[in-house]
Amino acid sequence: MRLVLLTAILAALPFGATQAAGDVQAGRAVAEIWCKPCHVSSGTRGTDVAIPFSEIAANRTAQSIGAFLADPHGAMPNIQLSRKQIDDVVAYMETLKGR
Ligand code: HEC
Repeated sequence: MRLVLLTAILAALPFGATQAAGDVQAGRAVAEIWCKPCHVSSGTRGTDVAIPFSEIAANRTAQSIGAFLADPHGAMPNIQLSRKQIDDVVAYMETLKGR
């Protein structure tokens, strides 16, 4: 119970206060809409153009992913994520590590 409370408090802190500030569910929703056309969440790359999220999470730190996402990339057309969306997506990707 205490851990749950602590997690809730950490999640409520303004961004930047902690790496764990992202909302995993919100991040998954962002990924489903904006990232899925190119990135699968886990497994092998198959015919997809971009690196699976599970692989990215395993290879990069949350910080470096966040920095990368501050700017659009690849053929990513007009996606400019907010700081909050970036934190959420990064939190989601971290859950895919090793999948
Ligand atoms: C139009 C296709 C496309 C979309 C949409 C897209 N990506 Fe990518 N992404 C790529 C390609 C291609 C690369 C590899 C080339 C590059 O780095 O520019 C890449 C690379 C990345 C990398 C760096 C991987 C590494 O380790 O080098 C991250 C992180 C990433 N994408 C996250 C995202 C997230 C999060 C979203 C959704 C908000 C997203 N991408 C949407 C095509 C896309």
